[in-house]
Amino acid sequence: MNLLLIETSPNGEASASREVSRYLVQQLEHEISQVTKRDLSVDPLPHITGDVVEAAFTASEKRSDRHRELLQQSDAVVDEVIAADVVIISTPMWNFSLPSVLKAWLDHLSRAGRTFSYSSSGPVGLLDAKKKVYFIISSGSRFSSGPFAAWDLATPFLKAVFGFMGVPSVEVIRVEGTNHQIGRDSAVQAAKDQIDQLFSKERITA
Ligand SMILES: Cc1cc2nc3c(=O)[nH]c(=O)nc-3n(C[C@H](O)[C@H](O)[C@H](O)COP(=O)(O)O)c2cc1C
Repeated sequence: MNLLLIETSPNGEASASREVSRYLVQQLEHEISQVTKRDLSVDPLPHITGDVVEAAFTASEKRSDRHRELLQQSDAVVDEVIAADVVIISTPMWNFSLPSVLKAWLDHLSRAGRTFSYSSSGPVGLLDAKKKVYFIISSGSRFSSGPFAAWDLATPFLKAVFGFMGVPSVEVIRVEGTNHQIGRDSAVQAAKDQIDQLFSKERITA
């Protein structure tokens, strides 16, 4: 099984989202043959420029060497996701949404002809619907319920983009309330407990 791990937190070892993604990778370890990692906090992708849009919307057989060069990073992002059986996206919430490095990664991933296509009845997702996507999201406040639930724009957005690309369900693991309501370590523990429950449920239903 190929695993792709995308991380964005700039908090290094202290990061709550990274601690939980490490734990999730450990739970999957026995099934994994290859791990590919992208640390977007260290190696962010460039924002999409007009040249890149033009290259992406030029039919592949008509692309120039310059077009191909412009699409290299986007192609690598797409190839990694296509090759992965499991994708773990681990990120803090920033301003009720995603850090811009993760948005940029999604902009490179969402490619007509590669991850989705247009048809007479609308867009069609081209990613394997069986691909398992885990979304680990840490946040200072609590968003699973309560007064701020509707303020989480990150989770519906990520689910929508993957749904658009053909992956109908995303497993969301929240590391929530790290700042005050719950506290970092308790929030991390609750997320690890959620992962334990997930895997014990999968073992029962397998
Ligand atoms: C720039 C910035 C924006 C943030 N925006 C939010 C937010 O909108 N809502 C929230 O609950 N927490 C917000 N936080 C807090 C982080 O989501 C929280 O501290 C999280 O646990 C950090 O995870 P990490 O340790 O994996 O980086 C923000 C933090 C930063 C640095």
